[in-house]
Amino acid sequence: MIRLQNIEKTFYGKETNLLALNQISLNVEKGEAFGIIGESGAGKSTLLRMINALEKPDSGMVMVDNVRLTELNRKELRLQQKQIGMVFQQFNLLNNKTVAENVRLPLTLHDYPNCLTVDDVLEFVGLEDKKFSYPGELSGGQKQRVGIARALITRPKLLLCDEPTSALDQNTTEEIVEVLRKAHEEFKMTSVVVTHELPVIKSLCKRAALMEAGEIKDIITIKQSDKSIIQKPYLERAIEVLAHD
Ligand SMILES: Nc1ncnc2c1ncn2[C@@H]1O[C@H](COP(=O)(O)OP(=O)(O)O)[C@@H](O)[C@H]1O
Ligand SMILES: [Mg+2]
Repeated sequence: MIRLQNIEKTFYGKETNLLALNQISLNVEKGEAFGIIGESGAGKSTLLRMINALEKPDSGMVMVDNVRLTELNRKELRLQQKQIGMVFQQFNLLNNKTVAENVRLPLTLHDYPNCLTVDDVLEFVGLEDKKFSYPGELSGGQKQRVGIARALITRPKLLLCDEPTSALDQNTTEEIVEVLRKAHEEFKMTSVVVTHELPVIKSLCKRAALMEAGEIKDIITIKQSDKSIIQKPYLERAIEVLAHD
């Protein structure tokens, strides 16, 4: 589904240049839930932005669904991008629009013959009762559910999430992870999740790339456990983290 080959990207500054991505090669299979992890500044977001062509590599090849993004003109790129859903750390909702209007927004920009309805996706994320609310009236977790509903309404074949839980507390993180897990299963998408939060990757993904300073250091197969730490109650987790070695 996604093939990256020898991607290089440098950001040129006044005083220094920064090699943000250094010889990145990566394959993500169709239907996979793939993680990209690493500390802040590692290059995760830049890498994710290559996949939906918001960022162009200096060299290397980006292929999504057998299409080479680097060779497309603007119109072709927009067609390609329209099949990709995005979920952001800061939700990116329009505050002067209702939940329903925010969720419908992608449908006002393009034609989507197979799209879902606002009611479908709001029910899926558990926010039917907030249809006519404004983002300012919602909690962080509810805002992210709106963000996810907006991404799903187009029935994307690829869902890209950039730190989808990093603005949320731990209990809300669990809820959102559960919604994303359910979405991946239900809609049979390919998902790529970028985060610095290891439990999120552990709950959502089967494989992950470990990034550091613009390089992929390793690609790991994630050990599945019956009950990951993220599913344990808050106090149980607190004791595990604080009181044991
Ligand atoms: N548009 C840009 N201009 C200049 N530098 C950038 C730009 N975007 C990202 N960077 C730099 O590239 C490096 C990787 O950034 P990023 O991909 O956002 O990392 P991460 O998402 O892992 O925190 C960082 O050092 C960041 O400051
Ligand atoms: Mg980032």
